[in-house]
Amino acid sequence: MVRIAPSLLSCDFAHLADEIVRVETAADLLHLDVMDGRFVPNITMGPVIVEAVRKATDLPLDVHMMIVEPDRYLSDFRQAGADMISIHVEACPHVQRTIDQIHQLGALAGAAVNPATPVEQLVDILGELDYVLVMSVNPGFGGQTFWPRALDKIVRLVDMRGQRQRPLIEVDGGINQETGESARKAGADILVAGSYVFGADDPVKRIQNLRGL
Ligand code: DX5
Ligand code: ZN
Repeated sequence: MVRIAPSLLSCDFAHLADEIVRVETAADLLHLDVMDGRFVPNITMGPVIVEAVRKATDLPLDVHMMIVEPDRYLSDFRQAGADMISIHVEACPHVQRTIDQIHQLGALAGAAVNPATPVEQLVDILGELDYVLVMSVNPGFGGQTFWPRALDKIVRLVDMRGQRQRPLIEVDGGINQETGESARKAGADILVAGSYVFGADDPVKRIQNLRGL
């Protein structure tokens, strides 16, 4: 069964704890987007916010780091309560070492790939990854349109994984009922959705839609 990760980027930050309550019973994990204004144009949250979210919920926290030199901050985010940490391969010259560092901190480790980055780039470290984050938009902002060729990347990853259980395949950007269904059918294990979930009066219903219920 697919897992759903609401992205807090699209929530009302003035009412963070209440926003978590709105999705908590239906979500499998919470996705937190860390942006630095360098790797991506936008600036969002640091460990302080992750720590506040950690206090508000027992759901696993999935931290998506869209920053240059992520190695410098892995331990801070882990201490703040991150259970899963993904780094962008485009921002890391030594991806294997960074993945190893995330594991040493006791978190699940993911490699995120921008639309222009082929998933084949991960072939030699696939067995070391807990998940691959396939971006279906160029990262930086919520509310963008799904890039359909991401589906082909998911299919290729399923093929690369073969009979193994890992890495899980997470897809992020422009996920709604239709694109979520396409991603599920392609083989995605985790759907991240921000504006589709938090932009609704009934986010629980939206999460159910994403599950295909
Ligand atoms: C975009 C972020 C996404 C974002 C998705 O760079 O990585 O997690 O919150 O937002 P939606 O679902 O609105 O495209
Ligand atoms: Zn994200």
